[in-house]
This record gives sequence, structure tokens and C-alpha cells, in this order.
Amino acid sequence: MTQDTDTHTENPAAGADDLAIDPWGSSTIEDYRSLFEEFGIEAFDEVLPDVPSPHYLMRRAIIFGHRDYRRVVEAMAADEPFAALSGFMPTGDPHIGHKLVRDELIWHQRRGGDTYALIADLEAHSARGLSWMEIDEHAEDYLLSLLAFGFDPEEGTIYRQSTNLRLQDLAFELGIEANFSEFEAIYGFSGETDVSHMQSVVTQAADILYPQLDEPKPTVIPVGPDQDPHIRLTRDLAARMRAFGVTRAYASFEAEADERELIAAAHAALSAEAGGADDLVRCVEAANWLEREVEPSETREAAITKLEAAGKEPVRPRVRFLVRNAPDGAFEALIEAIDGEKRVFDEHVDAYEMDKDQAEELARAVEVEHGGFGFVPPSSIYHRFMTGLTGGKMSSSVPASHISLLDDPEDGYDKVRAATTGGRETAEEQRDLGGRPDQCPVYELYAYLLAGDDDAYAETIYDECAGGERLCGGCKTEAAEAMEDTLADHQQRREEMRDVLADLDVDLDTQRP
Ligand code: TRP
Ligand code: SF4
Repeated sequence: MTQDTDTHTENPAAGADDLAIDPWGSSTIEDYRSLFEEFGIEAFDEVLPDVPSPHYLMRRAIIFGHRDYRRVVEAMAADEPFAALSGFMPTGDPHIGHKLVRDELIWHQRRGGDTYALIADLEAHSARGLSWMEIDEHAEDYLLSLLAFGFDPEEGTIYRQSTNLRLQDLAFELGIEANFSEFEAIYGFSGETDVSHMQSVVTQAADILYPQLDEPKPTVIPVGPDQDPHIRLTRDLAARMRAFGVTRAYASFEAEADERELIAAAHAALSAEAGGADDLVRCVEAANWLEREVEPSETREAAITKLEAAGKEPVRPRVRFLVRNAPDGAFEALIEAIDGEKRVFDEHVDAYEMDKDQAEELARAVEVEHGGFGFVPPSSIYHRFMTGLTGGKMSSSVPASHISLLDDPEDGYDKVRAATTGGRETAEEQRDLGGRPDQCPVYELYAYLLAGDDDAYAETIYDECAGGERLCGGCKTEAAEAMEDTLADHQQRREEMRDVLADLDVDLDTQRP
């Protein structure tokens, strides 16, 4: 992925043919690596060293991927405004798997992020067919757990989609930029898909951009990778709403990002030969250089054709502002605001004395001044799904596979005791060969939840298991006891939060059939 991707319109469905992610399906993610290759999710490792005191879910690589999270990390480190938002679809009991997103939100909130948690009730009603009565009940349960885990409702914002008019207005605006063919390609929607389901998609896009309604800012959306199609779509819709696009350019013609890279390389090499004087390199010379120095490819041929057509025009690096969705008067104001040498064309203006970051900042400021949103492309982080206690997927509809946060603590104990493990057939074998913590749902319970922030404890369990010193019976009892305590504590905190919830401005009594 090049640096310029947010400045031109990508097809968010690109790559979706080979591997589809269905946010409403039950697809398990078999191979997390394919998410990197097929969809351009980046490995979390790459930003981890720059995250200030990372959460244990980050340290343990349970959060494994991201899009554009660096933006948020930089804002966090520089004490600049940033936001975090995620949503919960109230379709069943909140379970321990949902705790990941709550923890991620709360962590960002404690680091100063403007934090939002929403109840995706329109989605639950339209895509899952739940009644409003069921939705209200589950919504209350989700929110009590969120508060019990430490979300601060004074600092943060909680809303439900169905009663948030500002959100729905934004969804309507975003809907103008989206069309059915795109939904078909991304989500596999067909002529049979109901309109409200489609509406829930633009509503989710509006959720994702909601933190930026008052002011554009880096925003992270912590989710499971099944939600990535929504992230890609929203990043694209956000770009389409922008008044101007900003790209680098080297001559008067338009070039694609990969062509620009080649032209930049030709320019760098030739101007170095010419002693650094920028305007001595002509387009034809750059074409000849590419012909000589670069392996043939479609990109190379396209760049050469464009350069040859431009002939003797000098190659000069510049930033280009392209008019996109600019309100009246905004283009003129932008031209006016550009310092130094510039060249104005019909639908774009080139500036020669600023870098791309300065240009982006200027474009956003002019847009916002003219009543635009100036959206920063939303970032995301992705966590692995917990394996079900019975192996396979942790699913709300298979009670034995998950532990509900509302389960009787003793049932929680029993479910852990009955869980599948990565242990061997016999104790002897386990002592000889060691257990397989990487394939053990019980080890996952420790790593995701029970060991909390205590890395040393998690590592000890791992090492003892893999080294054959730990046997499953005792290990499960230890986990089962911890689970029982966790549930009992959590449920007590939930009760304490009832008053807090009642005081919040969230209506949990929908008067609809
Ligand atoms: N679609 C999400 C789910 O299935 C819920 C959701 C709605 C959401 N709006 C969101 C998640 C915005 C993240 C950001 O659980
Ligand atoms: Fe899993 Fe514990 Fe058995 Fe290891 S010892 S396989 S971690 S249950």
C-alpha cells in the first residue's frame, strides 16, 4: 500500500473475490495471514513499538492487525485529539469474547481519547430480525457490562443508533456516496436484500465517522476482522465526501500512484546526475531513463507513454489539490490560501512550495471553513476471535461454547472444567511431549482474560504447559476458579452500575412493536 492511498478512490471490494468476509455470516477466520495479503490489513507488530504502554491484548498479539493506526498512535503520543468508537449488536447475552472490544475502548479512553460506545439496534432489528423488546433487554445488559468494566460515561459517549438523529442524518449524507453495485460487491447483497439492511450499512459508516462530526480527528475503531468490510467502505465514503484530494505530482499530467513512484525514481536519479538542479530533467529524459533502468511492466509502459507525451516539459515535484466534493467558493479560497508558487487548472491546482502533509492540512482547513466535514480516514485495530470452549467458534447461539457474563459463576466454573484442551491423551505423554497451549481454549482464557495485565503469569502457564510440567486437570481447576471469581465480581459491579445507567441519557424502553 502506498502512502497516497487515501487520496484516490479505491475499490473497497478489491480482493474480495478470493476471500470474502461476511459481517453477518458465521465465517470463521481460518488464516489471519490472508487478511494481510488479500485485504491490506497491516500486521500490528509494525506499530507496537510506538504505542505508549501497550495493552496486554496488544503485547500478546491478540490484537494482530490494523489499518492506519499509526495516525492514532501519533496523536496519542503528541497529546493531540483522537477518538475511539465501537458498536455492539444487542443480539444475545454479552459474553467473555465481547470483553475484548470493551477493554480496547476503555484503554483508549484512559489515554485521553474521546470515546464512544454504541448499541447497533437498527442493525440488530434489520439484519438479525430481533424485536425491539429483545433489543432493549440485551442493550441494557451490554451497557451494564460496559460500565462494570470501567467505561466512564461522563467522559465518553454512549448512544443507540435508533434515537440518534444526528447519526441518521450523517448516514443519509453518506448514502448519497454509496450505491447498490458497491454493496453487491462488498457484501454480496442481491435484489432480495431488504432496504433497511442496506440502511444499517450506511448507519454503521456514520457510526464510524460520528466522532468527527464536530471536528476532524484520528479515530480508531476496535473490532474483529469480520467488520473490516465496513471499515474499508467507510474509509472510501469518507474520502468521497472530501472537498479536495491531495496527491503528489511530477508534471502536468495525471498519473497513478505506482506510476508516480517510477517517475519519482527517474527524477531523483537524473537530478542527482545533473547536480541537484530540479528543473533540468525533462519528461522525455525520464521516459528514457525508465526504459533503460526499470524492468518492463504495465506500470512502466503507462508511465513512459505519459512522459513521452509531455515531451520537453520539465519534471518538477509538487503537490496537487484535486477538486472533489468542494462547496461553492471553496476552490477559490484554497487557491488564495496556497503560499508560494502555484499553477491553477480547471479542476486542480498545483503547489510547488509545500509538502504533502502541509497540503493535507490546508485542504482540510479550507474544507471545514466552508462547512465540510474534513474527515480523517478512520483507523482500525483487529483482534483475534476467542476459540469456543468446545473447540471451533465461540458462538452466542451455542451456550457450551462461550461463557456469558450473566452466567451463574458456578456454571462458569463447570464450563471451564468441561472445556476442550490442548493436552495429550495421558499424563505420561503430557510430561514427555508437553501440552499444546497454542491449541488450547483454556490457555486462551488465561491469555485473553484471566491473566489480565500479568504477563509473567501468562508466560509461566505457557512454559509449564509446553514443558510438560503442567497437567490439564489442575490447570483447568485454576482457570475455573479464576473464572468463577471474575464472573462474581463482574456481576456485583453490574448491579452497582444500575443507578449509573438509569442516569444516562439512553432510552432503554423503545415504544415500538
Ligand atoms: N456491526 C457491528 C457488529 O456486528 C456493530 C457495529 C455497528 C459497529 N456500528 C459499529 C462496530 C461501528 C464498530 C463500529 O457487531
Ligand atoms: Fe491447556 Fe492447561 Fe492443558 Fe496446557 S495444561 S493444554 S494450557 S489445559
